[in-house]
Amino acid sequence: METVVPKQALELEMAGKAAGPCVFVLFGAAGDLTKRKLLPALFNLVKAKLLPNDFALMGVSVDDLSLDAFRDQVSQFLPSDDTESRNWLRDRLFYERGDFADGSLFSRLGQRLAQIDLEFHTQGNYLFYLAVAPKFFGPVVQQLGTAGLSQQGDGHWRRVVIEKPFGQDLESAKALNRSISTVLQENQIYRIDHYLGKETVQNIMVFRFDNAIFEPIWNRRYIDHVQITNAETVGVERRGAYFDHAGTLRDMVPNHVMQLLSLTAMEPPVSFHADAVRDEQAKVLHSIQPLNSEEVLLRSVRGQYGEGFPDGERVPAYRAEPGVAAESRTETFVALKLNIDNWRWAGVPFYLRTGKRLAKRQTEIAIQFRRTPFQLFRNAPLHQPHTNTLVLQIQPAEGIALSFGAKIPGPLLRVGSVNMDFEYSQYFGADAYTGYEVLLYDCMIGDATLFQRSDMVEAGWCVVDPVLDVWKALPPRRFPNYASGTWGPAESDQLMAQDGRQWRRIEP
Ligand code: BG6
Repeated sequence: METVVPKQALELEMAGKAAGPCVFVLFGAAGDLTKRKLLPALFNLVKAKLLPNDFALMGVSVDDLSLDAFRDQVSQFLPSDDTESRNWLRDRLFYERGDFADGSLFSRLGQRLAQIDLEFHTQGNYLFYLAVAPKFFGPVVQQLGTAGLSQQGDGHWRRVVIEKPFGQDLESAKALNRSISTVLQENQIYRIDHYLGKETVQNIMVFRFDNAIFEPIWNRRYIDHVQITNAETVGVERRGAYFDHAGTLRDMVPNHVMQLLSLTAMEPPVSFHADAVRDEQAKVLHSIQPLNSEEVLLRSVRGQYGEGFPDGERVPAYRAEPGVAAESRTETFVALKLNIDNWRWAGVPFYLRTGKRLAKRQTEIAIQFRRTPFQLFRNAPLHQPHTNTLVLQIQPAEGIALSFGAKIPGPLLRVGSVNMDFEYSQYFGADAYTGYEVLLYDCMIGDATLFQRSDMVEAGWCVVDPVLDVWKALPPRRFPNYASGTWGPAESDQLMAQDGRQWRRIEP
């Protein structure tokens, strides 16, 4: 198969555009996210020569570590394939121990950063990354303000990256937005959602807005409904204590699932500038009809996994996971039917489902087109009525597939469904990136397109809040209600069946 843009060419094209001088100040430098994602992503940026020479990383955490111990710890999480890049990064690592609630940490930090500026010519540009527990988001930002570290001016910038979850409902998200906006301008705030770092998620926009053939049919006249599936096979792993307070609805829907939905349903932006794109995303999120209590009962499904034997091996029920309450009522599966109240989408339901311990890991957006107005081949033997489905495969398979009807070869006229497939890996080779590279790089160059604005975050919570309220008032009666390794509770299928539809069959 012809390779359109060879990977090497892409890498060369990116080279030479290193970000400007800065210090990356990493709060939570000994945490899980740092080890699993942020350090490998930074390392990939070093290898791609996208970090400037005038760069340093200041790790901050409560752990009592010497500088050497911190440097050794970081090195452990870097691939060993490129000694030069490892040494490059190691020489630029620094560490400050402290309690995030303690003001003296921030004045010490200010002094250390000023020294680094002198030594590394980082020019007072600081990127503060809050890879910390959500309860520290507001307090750390306040402390940065008090210590004068958030103040931009004299040709230097200050930016703050905030991880998810951003709030636990609409009210707390608004309160957090209010609190951080007393210290930071909106353009200094980078609310991160790692789904926007995924190539296939970014490609939704390219697919829709750089190809003239799809946009004319991307609306209620041609589309019957849309299904967004975000299925995981893993359970809660080591995050039981966090997850048991959050649940799948909060953990996945206002952020990741809403990103997928907004990119699929938004209007074409007037440019690719951050606010032009985010205006359109916010607009479509605001157009989602909030569910009233009765609709929540009819259009939402929750589930919790019981034990099961997904690959022939027994896995425990959610309630038996470490950190989870023995009688937990927290959901690990959600299905929702949403409607978007605008001209493009009126009458086109968006069905969403996401859950843990499902039958297959698969994230995809399936656009189900309408049937032909008249079924010409309805009397053909073996004719199965089929529809055209366009599937944007986000992960782990990355690609796009279009199914359509074709004549099955032979003397009889028989119609079957066939696929036209594009696979990323075949065209572009395997992707060794974590998804965080582009996000970290964008923060350093000040491009906020792939970050959530305050209004987008709040719009996501507006969708979820009424469901949270009804679910809280009416605790689930029958948890667990699906076995690990299945496609969730029977009610999820009923949600579709009541509209005469069914979830797309995702082959194991
Ligand atoms: C995180 C959630 O934000 O996203 C996790 O907190 C979830 O519960 C994860 O497993 C899914 O991310 P990905 O990239 O594996 O789809």
